[in-house]
Formats: sequence, structure tokens, C-alpha cells
Amino acid sequence: MGMIILALFLFSYISSATPEGRLLFENHCIRCHAEGSKKPLSLLRKKYRGNPSGVVDLAKRCPWGRGLSDMEIKVIADWLTREE
Ligand code: HEC
Repeated sequence: MGMIILALFLFSYISSATPEGRLLFENHCIRCHAEGSKKPLSLLRKKYRGNPSGVVDLAKRCPWGRGLSDMEIKVIADWLTREE
């Protein structure tokens, strides 16, 4: 029972306070796309706003797609291109 509550808590925490896309971005992308880099997150957000498929296509060019599933790429792309 305790585990179920914990799982529910974690799930709502991840899906609201910390979107999964952001977690994935921090784990897989930020080391090359931090502020101060050539293509910081703020620039990517501006350039790709409302265009998640543009980011998905890039998974093939940018070295980042390796090791990520299609699902993870889509989650990141949706988060990255969403209006904030
Ligand atoms: C190993 C370093 C590295 C990692 C990790 C990385 N990138 Fe990149 N990314 C680059 C470089 C270098 C470019 C520039 C490529 C170019 O201009 O042709 C780039 C370009 C991009 C672009 C296109 C920028 C433009 O000008 O249109 C996007 C979008 C992008 N990355 C997203 C991501 C995402 C999302 C992740 C994480 C899943 C990620 N990158 C992880 C190095 C990285």
C-alpha cells in the first residue's frame, strides 16, 4: 500500500512539477546545450517553438539521438517546443 502511494506521488510529481521532457533534456542534452554554448536551450526553444517534428527530424543529425528511444525523443521534442 505504501508503495502504491509513493508511486502515485512520484508520478504526479514528475508529470507536473518536473515534466519528463525536461528531465530527459537535463540528462541527455544539457551538457552540449547549456546557456553559454553555441546552441543554448533558450535558442532552441525560440527556433523550434510549435515545431516538435522539426526536433524529431534533427535526432538524425545532432549526435543526441543515439541511445534514446523514439518515445523519449518525442517527449523531449514536445517539451522543448511547447509554449511556456
Ligand atoms: C554531444 C553534444 C550534444 C548533445 C549531447 C546534444 N546535442 Fe544537440 N547539437 C549539438 C551540436 C554540436 C549541434 C549543432 C549541429 C549543427 O549546427 O549542425 C546541435 C544541434 C541541435 C539542434 C538544432 C539547432 C539548430 O540550430 O537548429 C537541436 C534542436 C538539438 N541539437 C537538440 C538536442 C537535444 C533535444 C538533445 C538531447 C536529446 C541534444 N541536442 C543533445 C550537440 C549536442
